Amino acid sequence: MENSNLIYQRKSIRSFSDKKIPTITIEEIIQDAQRAPSWQNAQPWEIYIASGESVKRIREGFQTTNETSSTDLTTPHRTDRSELSLNNIKEWSKSVEEAVGAKGTSDPEWVDTRKNLFYAPYLVYLTTSKKASEFTIYDMGAFGQTLMLSAAGHGIGTIPAYALSNHPEIVKKELSIPQDQEIVVGIAMGYASDSKVNNISTKRASVKKILHMKE
Ligand SMILES: Cc1cc2nc3c(=O)[nH]c(=O)nc-3n(C[C@H](O)[C@H](O)[C@H](O)COP(=O)(O)O)c2cc1C
Repeated sequence: MENSNLIYQRKSIRSFSDKKIPTITIEEIIQDAQRAPSWQNAQPWEIYIASGESVKRIREGFQTTNETSSTDLTTPHRTDRSELSLNNIKEWSKSVEEAVGAKGTSDPEWVDTRKNLFYAPYLVYLTTSKKASEFTIYDMGAFGQTLMLSAAGHGIGTIPAYALSNHPEIVKKELSIPQDQEIVVGIAMGYASDSKVNNISTKRASVKKILHMKE
């Protein structure tokens, strides 16, 4: 596929400017994301978006909370990861160091942007019912990726991040998310700043390593 394709254009943005996105554009992005496939077209997603003062309150809440990190979904522990994943994570760390310097994820600019939820002007939370089955996560992932590709098509950056959803109680309170919903992922959205943390160029394993075909 051409490298100009949206699939190749999209990459995670970890530092945003405070430039606003027109509401009509946000609605178009969500409408595009709704084209994602889901089991029996159940469309199990709901979308909560924080902007303006709401983002500031969530940011401050994350910075001042005494609660330990937790997520509505199970957080994978390093030791439970497959060898395939661990090898790719190692490569990712190298890509980070290439872009931000030898300190990698301990680099002060990296730490600062993460602490400030990437300075994103919009925090998009994808939720689903707690009644959802494991298969629902597939639907939610498809929705999230379609959303991020649509955003890229509008010149808008995104990052799905654990760092945005590891205090679900703060997000749920601020955005009045009902307790019968669980947060699947938080996606920061906005226009990219010129920070070096946005210069990361991630690699992918060779197709030969992951593709298993048989005639
Ligand atoms: C579920 C999920 C959680 C993630 N959490 C974080 C995070 O907390 N912090 C971060 O910097 N990147 C996070 N990422 C972004 C990944 O590091 C990124 O997608 C991966 O390195 C590939 O890079 P790319 O998105 O630029 O193609 C997350 C991605 C996913 C899918």
